[in-house]
Amino acid sequence: MTLMHEPLRKLVSQTLIKLIQTQLVAAGVAEDAMSAGDVYKALVEPPNTDLGHLAFGCFITAKNLKKGPPVVAQLLAQELKNECAQNIILKKAIGSVEAAGPYINIKFTPAGLADYVLKPILNGETFKAQLTEATPKMMIEYSQPNTHKELHVGHMRNMCLGDSIVRLLRYSGYNILASTFPGDVGTHVAKCLWFMKYHNKEAIPMLNKGAWLGAMYSKGNLLLEDQEGTPLEEENKKILTEILKQLEHKNGEYYDLWKQTREWSIELMKDVYKWADVHFDHWYFESDVDSDSIKTIKKYHSEGKLVESQGAIGLDFSNENMGFCLLLKSDGTGLYATKDVELARRKFEDYKIEKSIYVVDQRQALHFKQVFKTLEVLGFNQAKDCFHLQYNYVELPDGAMSSRKGNIVPLTALVETMRNHIKAEYLNRYTNEWTPEEIETVADQVAKGAIKYGMLKQDTNKKIVFDMNEWTKLDGESGPFIQYSFARINSLLKKFTFDANAEFATDVLAHNSELKLMQHLMNFNTVVLNSAENYKPAALCSYLYDTAKKFNTFYHDCAIGTAEAPDLKKARLALAYSTGAVIKHGLSLLGIPAPERM
Ligand code: ARG
Repeated sequence: MTLMHEPLRKLVSQTLIKLIQTQLVAAGVAEDAMSAGDVYKALVEPPNTDLGHLAFGCFITAKNLKKGPPVVAQLLAQELKNECAQNIILKKAIGSVEAAGPYINIKFTPAGLADYVLKPILNGETFKAQLTEATPKMMIEYSQPNTHKELHVGHMRNMCLGDSIVRLLRYSGYNILASTFPGDVGTHVAKCLWFMKYHNKEAIPMLNKGAWLGAMYSKGNLLLEDQEGTPLEEENKKILTEILKQLEHKNGEYYDLWKQTREWSIELMKDVYKWADVHFDHWYFESDVDSDSIKTIKKYHSEGKLVESQGAIGLDFSNENMGFCLLLKSDGTGLYATKDVELARRKFEDYKIEKSIYVVDQRQALHFKQVFKTLEVLGFNQAKDCFHLQYNYVELPDGAMSSRKGNIVPLTALVETMRNHIKAEYLNRYTNEWTPEEIETVADQVAKGAIKYGMLKQDTNKKIVFDMNEWTKLDGESGPFIQYSFARINSLLKKFTFDANAEFATDVLAHNSELKLMQHLMNFNTVVLNSAENYKPAALCSYLYDTAKKFNTFYHDCAIGTAEAPDLKKARLALAYSTGAVIKHGLSLLGIPAPERM
């Protein structure tokens, strides 16, 4: 449940609820028919911020009072005005109250905004607030690349999304476990090892073995396709089957090669996670659930819970338009869904979680429907607590990316290109002022900003068409634009030696741009909580972009260095600092660092 975490909304809610309760009692309705929390939830931002900073919709109150919402709005607005006239705390914070149709529009004073919005930001309270009451323990599984394949730009979207959702939920007060589930077994592994063993003429490189291995897979895949329909096809199949058998029985030369090569891929994943500052509480591997998953399915089969079709075992969901969910092939081997049945069980048992979320590409929607339905049919109570969090995929201007076909943009290439571009276009001008290390560090931070923001700003239901030229343009709505605003604020504060702990006059920030910016900052935690609970980092992205733009307007309209009075200058610096703090915390929830200067 949402807490009344935002101080101005809380002040309004606590005041309004008393007035409402008086009306409820007068109308013979139970006093507790509504709570301050209900009022808090009914507070919205008016579409036109000139009308007010917050609006209270009187719909539920009106229903309780059995009156029309506009009538109730009139009544409560008058009561609230009277209250403000009598109470010095309210008088200081609330500037005007007007009824408008079914709404009450409330405008705060400059001091109200500065006291309740800026001060908690300046002393850090805003960022420590618990936004939600005790929540169930949840596991979020994300970034589940396959070993023996190359990591590409497409994988980046999943990783950025999962990581940001974990950060957002944790910040909001949720109890979150992060996990990953790399695919380290299956035909893709066999194809890769086949090529390495029979066709590769290159020496194994000393560095970047994981990326090299990914190329082996792509080459293997292409060669196998080429040889389809030739006399070699049969022979290839035989070898692939042999490889898979050795992997299943955990012995033989292919098994040894698998163990060794698997590490190369895992190393590559770990390098990427380190670069991206991504951490998992638990790593599940497909190879680890594989044999248990087959045992589990056999057990269910012996209990008569599964059906047979042409020697294979599974569940038939064709009546529900979900096809046949194959769980055991006629040769006794399991499938992708088989492992997911076992994995789901383990997640709930290992960690006593109450909700299990899978961040996976929307193209696997049918798979998850089948798996969750299978769990339900097998009597697994928590099937209803499993949720497939889908997102649309990343493609290249000339079509879908596929490591099978080898038309991918490898992650390493993306990061390298971005870093070099940032240095050449922006940072090389500081060669004489900054140390080479600082240039490298900032280039890397800005590359993260560009890549992560680019992946997150797009709504999850929209495709991302990845075009390197577009991505290296860093103006407009981009991570670097927001990072740059932070750096600019930071140098401003340095220049005027600002002290966040010092008192400042809270009633002088009365310019429209100042009020708009403060009102916007007021919403930070509310936006974060919404982004978290709707699994939409994109909402925070656009909030931060707005923050940077509103800061630019303020900076343009309101002189700081040449401010008329020292009091005003100090207050404006406090506003600048607060904006910087919001940007910095906001970026960190997207997994993006904020360089001090750039
Ligand atoms: N490794 C799979 C793939 O690359 C994704 C795994 C998703 N998670 C799951 N529990 N099935 O397609």
